[in-house]
Amino acid sequence: MTIVHDTTLTQLPGIASLPLSDFKTHRANFFDKMKPNSIALFGAASEVTRSNDTEYAFCQNKHFYYLTGFNEPDALLLLLKIDNNPQAILFSLPKDKSHEVWHGRRVGQEKACQQYNFDQSYVLDELSSLLPNYLNGLSQVYFCFDNSDMSQQVFTWLSHVRSTARQGSKVPEVLIDASPIINELRLIKSANEIELMRQVNYISGLAHQRAMQKAAVGMFEYQIETELLHEFSRHGARHPAYASIVAGGDNANILHYTDNGETLQNNDLLLIDAGGELSGYAADITRTFPVNGKFTAPQTVLYQLVLDTQLTVISAIKPGITFAKLNEMANECLTQGLLDLAILSGDLAQLLLDNACKKYFIHGLGHWLGLDVHDVGDYHINENKQQCREFVAGMVLTIEPGLYMPNDDDELDEKWRGIGIRIEDNIVVTKQGYENLTVNSPRTINDIEALMKNKI
Ligand code: GLY
Ligand code: MN
Ligand code: MN
Repeated sequence: MTIVHDTTLTQLPGIASLPLSDFKTHRANFFDKMKPNSIALFGAASEVTRSNDTEYAFCQNKHFYYLTGFNEPDALLLLLKIDNNPQAILFSLPKDKSHEVWHGRRVGQEKACQQYNFDQSYVLDELSSLLPNYLNGLSQVYFCFDNSDMSQQVFTWLSHVRSTARQGSKVPEVLIDASPIINELRLIKSANEIELMRQVNYISGLAHQRAMQKAAVGMFEYQIETELLHEFSRHGARHPAYASIVAGGDNANILHYTDNGETLQNNDLLLIDAGGELSGYAADITRTFPVNGKFTAPQTVLYQLVLDTQLTVISAIKPGITFAKLNEMANECLTQGLLDLAILSGDLAQLLLDNACKKYFIHGLGHWLGLDVHDVGDYHINENKQQCREFVAGMVLTIEPGLYMPNDDDELDEKWRGIGIRIEDNIVVTKQGYENLTVNSPRTINDIEALMKNKI
C-alpha cells in the first residue's frame, strides 16, 4: 500500500502570533490606568485534571496572557507603579531538569526577562516571602475580584502585612477591581490583534470549506468535527476556540449541541459552529448547509431569510451604531419574513412590539470576540444600563442571526420542522464602517451548492 503524505500548505502567510513587544504595550496601557503608589496582581491559569494524572490541554488565563504573552501555568504577574516608575515582575516555575524531561521545557527566570521584557523575574517559591514586602507602604491594590484564588491570596498577604504593623508596616487601604479596566483595554483591538484574527478567520473558513466538501449522508457528526480540527491544526491553529458544534437536522435546534454523535441524514441540514484559536485569539463562525449538497424548498426560503437578515445587519455596521439598533433591524427582517411565510400571523407592528420572532430566533444577535470567544467588555456604558454602547473602530464582534424550528413544535407546519439555521460572521468595526473577517466560507446558496459538488 502506498501512503501519500499531504504536503500542502501548513502555514499561511501573515502573522501567527503577536510580537512579544505588543504585550509590553498592553502592560503600558494598564500602567496608564493605575493610580500612583499602587500594585496590580494577575494570576496565570493552573492545569486542569481530566482524569487521574492526565490533564486537559492547557489554556492560559486570558487577562494574564494579554498582559504577558507567557504561556506557562501557575505564574503571577506583578505590576508596580511607584513614583511613576512602572515595573513588571514575573514569578514563574523554575528551570528543573528532571521535571522538564517528563513534562516539557520551561522558560525560566533569565529568559523571562530577556525574551518577555519583564523588569525582574523570580521563582514562584519566593512569592510568599516577597509579596508582603511589595505591598507594605502602598496605597492601592488592583486584582480581579472574580478570581477567587487570587482574592484569597491577596487577603492572606494583606493580613501578613497587617500583622507587622507594630514594626511600622503600612497596609494598602484601597482594593480596586482590575477586571473592568482590562476588559475595556481588551475590547479595542490593535492592528496586530486584528491581523491575527483575520488569519484565524481565514484558517477557520478553510475548515468550514473542508466540512462542506467532506459531508455525506451516513457520516457521524464527529467525523466532520475531526475534519475541522485537522484543517485548523495544519494551518497553525492547534486548538479549537470552543467545542465545535456539528449538528445534523433537529440537533441544530439545541443551541450548544456538542455531543456530535449522530449520523447525517439525507435531506437534513447540517449546522456547524466552529472556529480555531490562533495564539489565543478566537474565530467563531457558523455555516448551515444541506448534507446531500442541495437545499430543499422549505430549507431554501428559511435559509435565504436568515442570510438576508445577516447581510442587512452587517451592512449597517459603523462607528456609532449599537447592538440595540442592529437587533431592531434583525427583528424587523425576521418578523417580516416569517409573516410572509405564514409562520407568524397578525399585524406586523404588533408582532414587532411583542417580539414575536424571538420564538424562533432564540439567542442574541452577536457578541464581542477576541481572546475569549464571548469576549470581555461591557455592552452597556451608561449608569442605568439601558443604552447599548456605541461601536467604535477596533471592536470585533459576531453577527449571527438564526431560526430554529424544532421537530416537536406542533404549532409549526410539518414542512418547517427539524430545520435549524444560523449564519455567523466575524466583523471588525473600522473608521469607515466595517471589515468582514469571514471572507472564505461560502454562505450564499449558489456558492454552497457549487462547493459541495467538489467533494474531496
Ligand atoms: N460559538 C458560540 C457562539 O456563537 O456564541
Ligand atoms: Mn458567536
Ligand atoms: Mn458561534
